[in-house]
Amino acid sequence: MSRWLLTGGAGYIGAHVARDLRASGREVVIIDDLSTGLISRVPADVTVIEESILDTDVVRRALDGVTGVVHLAAKKAVGESVDQPMLYYRENVGGMVSLLQAMEDAGTRCLVYSSSAAVYGEPPWSPISEDSPLQPLSPYGETKVIGEWLVRDAAAARSHASTSVSPLSWASLRYFNVAGAGAPDLGDTSVNNLIPMVLDALDRGQAPQVFGTDYPTHDGSCVRDYIHVSDLAAAHVAAADLVESAEVAAVFNVGTGVGSSVLEVMAAVSEVVGRDVGAVAVQRRAGDPPELVASVDRIAAELGWSAQRTLRDMVASAYAAGR
Ligand SMILES: NC(=O)c1ccc[n+]([C@@H]2O[C@H](COP(=O)([O-])OP(=O)(O)OC[C@H]3O[C@@H](n4cnc5c(N)ncnc54)[C@H](O)[C@@H]3O)[C@@H](O)[C@H]2O)c1
Repeated sequence: MSRWLLTGGAGYIGAHVARDLRASGREVVIIDDLSTGLISRVPADVTVIEESILDTDVVRRALDGVTGVVHLAAKKAVGESVDQPMLYYRENVGGMVSLLQAMEDAGTRCLVYSSSAAVYGEPPWSPISEDSPLQPLSPYGETKVIGEWLVRDAAAARSHASTSVSPLSWASLRYFNVAGAGAPDLGDTSVNNLIPMVLDALDRGQAPQVFGTDYPTHDGSCVRDYIHVSDLAAAHVAAADLVESAEVAAVFNVGTGVGSSVLEVMAAVSEVVGRDVGAVAVQRRAGDPPELVASVDRIAAELGWSAQRTLRDMVASAYAAGR
């Protein structure tokens, strides 16, 4: 049985990945500073090191006997990153530098990295393939691009014949819009993404807002690719299998390949909650591209993975989880 370290394993996505990695027969250890994570999300028999990954010595010790790392620990709010770019560079870029250094010191062989569709910014075409230009629109997206560069550079350096460190086998997963919950206690407690925002507005007795209904899309509202967090967790297991079985350098979009508009999400929420949510149209927000949909050909061909769950599954499971 191989042992894997999950950074950010007490987070929304990490908690799902932890369960699926264990179900795949791996032992899991978590490092999480609980800045946004919840210890209640972690199964009681999983070891949690309650420290920051910025402490390289702590990470190095945590890597003892570890085959691979799923690196999820990061700050993820786009708006906050615009207000506090240094925080995002310190945590996300500094965290990645610290982790890669510790992995090199410990000779850890495998890495699966949580990247994001935010690396693409406003892409010139849709669906977006992995070869599309990387033009992030926020400090958050910039830190995710830099994270990918750091992984690539660390792997290149470790592949040189002059180094005695084992090569690094890695995959970056560029998640699209993650939604839903695999269990009622594993919901997304942050209110950054559309479905939690709509459910949060309803909780507070307010009408959810649709930012812009004059985009060049089929119904005028923005189109995004929503991916169920349980499908996403399964993609991590497929990526872990790949990086463990061969020496790879891989980048994959993780989405459904199907776009849903904001108005379609509102309709799905109305159906699940059993009443019209009474969404109101307001002005566009700055920096929202009209359409972001993943090309999922590469991940289907190379990982044999595809999303199984629908938008309704995402909304219903988020609602059951209270978000
Ligand atoms: N949720 C999304 O829609 C989405 C989309 C694309 C990419 N991502 C990426 O997925 C990853 C996980 O996101 P999430 O939605 O689960 O967020 P989350 O905030 O729920 O989880 C992040 C976890 O990392 C921990 N953490 C943060 N900084 C840390 C540090 N320095 N040391 C140790 N632990 C630290 C937090 O306590 C938390 O448990 C992030 O890297 C995020 O950028 C998320």
